[in-house]
Amino acid sequence: MEHRSDSRVTRRGVLAASIATAALTSRLLRAAEPPPGTSTPSSSPPTTSAPINKGPATVSVPVASPPLITKAIPSSGEWLPAIGLGSDAFRNDLREDIQAELKRMNELGGVVVDTAAAYGDSEAIIGGALESLGIREKFFLATKLVGESAAQPIGAESLARSLERLRTRRLDLLQVHNLNGVTELLPRMQEWKKEGRIRYLGVTTSRTSQHAELADVMRTHRLDFVQVDYSIGNREAESTVLPLAQERGIAVLINLPFGRASLFRQAAGRALPPWAADIDVASWAQYFLKYVISHPAVTCVIPGSTSVAHLEDNQGAARGRVPDAAMRRRMEDYWDGKAA
Ligand SMILES: NC(=O)c1ccc[n+]([C@@H]2O[C@H](COP(=O)([O-])OP(=O)(O)OC[C@H]3O[C@@H](n4cnc5c(N)ncnc54)[C@H](OP(=O)(O)O)[C@@H]3O)[C@@H](O)[C@H]2O)c1
Repeated sequence: MEHRSDSRVTRRGVLAASIATAALTSRLLRAAEPPPGTSTPSSSPPTTSAPINKGPATVSVPVASPPLITKAIPSSGEWLPAIGLGSDAFRNDLREDIQAELKRMNELGGVVVDTAAAYGDSEAIIGGALESLGIREKFFLATKLVGESAAQPIGAESLARSLERLRTRRLDLLQVHNLNGVTELLPRMQEWKKEGRIRYLGVTTSRTSQHAELADVMRTHRLDFVQVDYSIGNREAESTVLPLAQERGIAVLINLPFGRASLFRQAAGRALPPWAADIDVASWAQYFLKYVISHPAVTCVIPGSTSVAHLEDNQGAARGRVPDAAMRRRMEDYWDGKAA
């Protein structure tokens, strides 16, 4: 999503910014926008269809598709769809599959793609695919700086390489990878933001052992985003990182929503509960993702996938009803084997 101006506002101004940015973001959210964290009940979709995209990848979806579930970035009020895509398994031999996946994601209304300078071919594959499909401006691209070494200038070469490989003039989000060099990098990243090379900045981890350090950084720096590990099988982020993000107005990307596929192994042979339909959940992937995005601190989850079938399954969690607090407890109890 390449925008002409930075719409950063104070937290008090978030509501006003939400209204002001609605027109700007409406081109990005191809369906009617619900308020953040809300959705409409799903009914049987009719067989007639209508186009939802204006770009080259225009397709038809059922007229009665519920709206996308969207969340606001606290530092700007900009809305994002709550289900994105992670890309650390993107490799050159999957290039065609990835292009098909990104095309389908755009058709389904997905916007956020997370990559990293350290993810092998990932940035180059994404940049090439979006350029050849002509849909770069439809996406919100998040990447991460490579770790530092004493011999390397801090971060600058990494940023330049990411911009080149992603074939873009400006990144939507630049993150410090695993807090590596965070104190040195964040002031530089603030400069790059002022210069318009990045729109938002943030910090990532995927280890519970780093949550305390992440929380320290959240308390002492101005961040737009954090990225952290969280799933129904790993709820540690609920104790510190997620409430702190709400308190300080920091957007949250969630990685490892499937515990690197370990949740699917644990779910093997288990049936979904019959009440899953009450929250428009039709697969275990959707159960895991709806659980994550229903936490009020969570802005967007980035499940990793390398196939169109998995992408479609995951994007299925981007619409329909969102679990409330009581339903979240019910989901936990069922997953933990405490209730039927
Ligand atoms: N420190 C950091 O900053 C950090 C660390 C880790 C991850 N991340 C980011 O977070 C993203 C997510 O993490 P992850 O990819 O490692 O783990 P994950 O999202 O928890 O799990 C990915 C695994 O789930 C499988 N999968 C995806 N959708 C599925 C579905 N609908 N049904 C069955 N299996 C499905 C994938 O298989 P297929 O590949 O076959 O689709 C893959 O094996 C990464 O891609 C990366 O962008 C960041």
